[in-house]
Amino acid sequence: MAARYVLSIDQGTTSTRAMIFDQHGRLAGMGQREHRQIFPQPGWVEHDAAEIWHNTRHVIPEALADLGISVADVAAVGVANQRETFVLWERTTGRPVCPAIVWQDTRTRSVADHLLDDPGADFFRQRAGIPPASYFTAVRLSWLMDSRPELRERAHRGDLLLGTMETWLIWNLTGGPDGGIHVTDVTNASRTLLMNLESLHWDSELLEFFDVPRAILPKIVPSSTIVGTATGSLAGVPVAAAVGDQQSALFGQTCFEAGEVKCTYGTGAFLLMNTGDEIVTSTHGMLPTVAYQLADGTKAYALEGSIAVAGGLVQWVRDGLGLIRSAPEIETLARTVDDSGGCVVVPAFTGLFSPYWSSGARGVISGLTSFVTAGHLARAVLESCAWQTNDVVEAMAADAGVPLKSLRADGGMTANHLMMQMVADVLDVSVVRPTMSETVSLGAAYLAGLAVGYWSDIKVLRRNWHRAGQWDPQMSPQVRESQRAAWRSAVGRTLGDGS
Ligand code: G3P
Repeated sequence: MAARYVLSIDQGTTSTRAMIFDQHGRLAGMGQREHRQIFPQPGWVEHDAAEIWHNTRHVIPEALADLGISVADVAAVGVANQRETFVLWERTTGRPVCPAIVWQDTRTRSVADHLLDDPGADFFRQRAGIPPASYFTAVRLSWLMDSRPELRERAHRGDLLLGTMETWLIWNLTGGPDGGIHVTDVTNASRTLLMNLESLHWDSELLEFFDVPRAILPKIVPSSTIVGTATGSLAGVPVAAAVGDQQSALFGQTCFEAGEVKCTYGTGAFLLMNTGDEIVTSTHGMLPTVAYQLADGTKAYALEGSIAVAGGLVQWVRDGLGLIRSAPEIETLARTVDDSGGCVVVPAFTGLFSPYWSSGARGVISGLTSFVTAGHLARAVLESCAWQTNDVVEAMAADAGVPLKSLRADGGMTANHLMMQMVADVLDVSVVRPTMSETVSLGAAYLAGLAVGYWSDIKVLRRNWHRAGQWDPQMSPQVRESQRAAWRSAVGRTLGDGS
C-alpha cells in the first residue's frame, strides 16, 4: 500500500516540532518540544545543538503515535529550520564543539559595523546579495574561529563539520558519525553570507575573506530532492527536503508566482515576496534571497523583509514583565482599551532589521504618562507588529516598484484577531489567512512530497490553499497618519537620531 502521509520537522527558534500531513495538506498528527534559550551575556543567544537533536528524536515518534501510524505510512520527511543559527561538530563523534550561536545573537555587532566600512557592503552584496550583519552565519562563525583559534585549526585539518540546523539534523537523521549525509539547501546557504546568490555555489572570495575552509562545508543541494534515507524511528524513509523556515512558509502558502507575498508571524516576522527567476536587488533594506529550488533545477528568488522581534515581544510581556500568563492573553488585555493611550513600543531588542539594519538600536517605549495602563501597553505591543510590517511593506514596494495588493499572513500570532485587524488597518490592504496556518511545516512537507512523487506538481498544491479568515481595513486616514508620525518618532529614538 502506498504511504499515506508526509512528515515534516520544523526546527524553530524556540521549539522543534514534527508534523504529519495528508494529501490535502491537512495536519494529521504532531509532537513538539521546546529547548532552552541560553543568554550567557547581554546580546548573546545560544542553543544546545545536542538538546535540539535529542528533542527531534523524541518529537518524531510522538507525532507518529499522535496519529497512530507506523513509519511505513510515511512517504518522505522534510526539514524546515530557523535560519542562520549554526553549530560546529566533530566529524567522527558527532559531538558539538561549540554552542549553536543563534541568529538573534549580536555579539559580533562591532565586527559587522567594521565590515560595512572595510571592505564595504558592496563586496558582500555583489556576491551573496546580503550585507554584512551579525544576523548572518559567516560573521558569527568567523568571530568564533577568531576567538577560539584551535577550532579554526581543527576546521582546516578537516576534523569538524559546519551546519545550520537542517544540516545538523539531516546529518544525524541519516546516521551521524556512521555515514551521515552532510548537506544544506540553497535557501539556507543563501543566509550564510558564504554562497554566491547567482551561481548557488560556495563563493571562493567570501570563503577566503572569512577564512572558512571548504572541508567543513556541507554540499549545497536543491530544497526538494532525495538526499538520503533516515535511520532510527524513521528508518527507511527518504529525507527529501531541506528549507529555511521562512522560505518554507512562502512555499506552504503556495506563493509560486512572482509578486506573491506572505508574512509569517513567529518569534520574529518575515515578509517574503516571490520575485521569480530574477534576483531583485534592494536599495531599501530588503534582502534578496533564494525562495526554493526543485529537483529539476527550477528555482525562484525572493525579496525578504526581516523583523527580528514580533511574537518575541509578547513572550517578553509574559516572561519579562509578567503582565500576562499566556501569549493569547495579550489580546484580551489589549481589548480592555480602545487605543494605546499615546504609548508606542519599538522592540529593537537585538537591533532593528529591515529596513533599518541597525545592530546598535535598542528598544524604546515612548509616550508614557500616568494614564497608560497595562491594557494600553498590550495594545502598543500589538501595534508595533503592525507598524514594523508596514515599514517592511513600504520598503518592499519601493524596491519592487509595485504596491502590495493584499497580504497572506500565517504563523502562531495570526490567531490574534485584534493584531490581524491592526495589520490590515495600518497597511490599508486586506489581510488573509489560510486554513492551514502552520505553513512552515507544510512547505517542507510539500517540498519533500514533491521529491518522492507523493504530490505530482506544484499546481495540485494550490488546490489545498483555502481562506480561513480575512481582515479588511477600517482605520480612518487621519488616525493612520497620526499613528504613523508617533511610530516614526519612536523609531528615530531607537536609532539614536534624537527625533
Ligand atoms: O531568520 C530567522 C528565522 O528563520 C527564524 O524563524 O520562526 O524560528 O523565529 P523562527
